Amino acid sequence: MARKPARGAKKTRPAAKAKPDYENIKVSRRRGACMIQFDRPDKLNAISPEMADEIIDALTAAEMDRRVIAVILCGDDRAFCAGADLSAMPTDPSLRFDQYRERFNVTPGRQLYRTLCFYTKPVISAVEGYCLGGGFELALWGDFIVSGEGGSFGLPEVARGLIPGGGGTQNLPRLIGPALAKELIWTARRIPATEAREFRIVNHVVPKGEALKKAQEIVETMARNGPLGLMMSKQAINRGIDQSRFNGFLGEGDLFHMLYFSEDRTEGLKAFAERRPAKFKGQ
Ligand code: COA
Repeated sequence: MARKPARGAKKTRPAAKAKPDYENIKVSRRRGACMIQFDRPDKLNAISPEMADEIIDALTAAEMDRRVIAVILCGDDRAFCAGADLSAMPTDPSLRFDQYRERFNVTPGRQLYRTLCFYTKPVISAVEGYCLGGGFELALWGDFIVSGEGGSFGLPEVARGLIPGGGGTQNLPRLIGPALAKELIWTARRIPATEAREFRIVNHVVPKGEALKKAQEIVETMARNGPLGLMMSKQAINRGIDQSRFNGFLGEGDLFHMLYFSEDRTEGLKAFAERRPAKFKGQ
């Protein structure tokens, strides 16, 4: 897909439908869920710059599409994603410091992690097969992971003379604690879904091939609730994690109060009083 100059809301709205010009992903929508399926099966869905660009584009369209309650990232039976495309890693010594600069705002792979870091809708990763390196880091930037029994998780970067560079050294210790994270990173060990469940990396382990179905069921349940409540509670949790409890609680109070200005809050309370399901509009 040709790189687009800007990803403004106007340009993409309401485009969470399949785009024929995507070459590395497939996008579909079902009952409030937007599925972004990685589609480089020959490379175990390793993330190339072009694929990263396409995922960002699909994420942006889904974010601005009110029909989408949550995004589900998925791969195929063999791999969710085997990480950054190792064949696309830069090697020219004369460009090293340009590469240092571009990693902040320019490189698509980095922009992808940043997009997920600030994303306002729930992101669930439905994992089958390999979920390694940058693919695992992608899932860790999302909100939670559902895995089929054949899921296999790991950060193998040190085995390649690298370190995790997509947030793995930050997100994994926050999720499972520094001691376990260090062991996994330093041994480059791959762990099966059941062990990932024990470590609380994965919320649910389901029979092989059923991770997407499980993620879709979760989105269907979420879709009954207020989308603004989903957005603001995600904000409250993600911001609060890195703050003192006191500041996090203050922030939560602001977000709680902000919803007083929404029609959805009025509708939610009215529906409760009238003993009927609420009809939320996201405004
Ligand atoms: N980047 C680019 N290509 C990759 C890739 C990656 N991260 N991971 C797998 N591939 C490619 C392989 O090169 C191979 O391509 P080829 O058929 O053109 O040679 C294809 O995907 C299939 O992989 P293969 O290694 O043959 O499958 P396997 O079942 O024997 O092993 C893995 C699977 C995931 C264990 C192994 O491919 C691997 O270790 N990949 C690298 C994972 C990694 O280090 N990720 C972190 C990147 S920072």
